Amino acid sequence: MPPDGDQRYAADAGARPSSPVVGDQVDWDALRAKATELMRRAYAPYSKFPVGVAGLVDDGRVVAGCNVENAAYGVALCAECGMVSELVATGGGRLVAVSCVGIDAQPLMPCGRCRQLLWEHGGADCLLLTPQGVLPMREVLPQAFGPDNLSIAGGAPA
Ligand code: THU
Repeated sequence: MPPDGDQRYAADAGARPSSPVVGDQVDWDALRAKATELMRRAYAPYSKFPVGVAGLVDDGRVVAGCNVENAAYGVALCAECGMVSELVATGGGRLVAVSCVGIDAQPLMPCGRCRQLLWEHGGADCLLLTPQGVLPMREVLPQAFGPDNLSIAGGAPA
């Protein structure tokens, strides 16, 4: 656990509050187009299941990723891993809207592990474009485990 006040670990420090409500302002077509662009760059020779994802950050940035597989199958990186890595590497912030697509460029539900990633960096109010329309993460990952749960053992790192 990082020492208190150590800003080297502060990519999302203090950024736990809910995301701004921007539902009406999200350009879902543009976000899905970006996700589709990334899907076409996926490295998925083993599963032949390319995935792309794009996320709108609370400062207006768009971050994106694609899945990157490996001959050691278990090492595969989901598209969301790449997106979250770009998020943190380019300054952090909170995801407010996310579009994930498969080979047909249609909305794809993130796997369980990646829902956890979205929860960490977007929280309950982060919006996801699903096959059933736009849903908040509170519905996509109900009763989620998150940073708040760590308080019982002294809290999440500052
Ligand atoms: N995949 C993702 O990139 N994101 C998900 O949320 C679901 C699964 C990838 C992992 C693997 O490369 C391929 O899809 C088939 O499981």
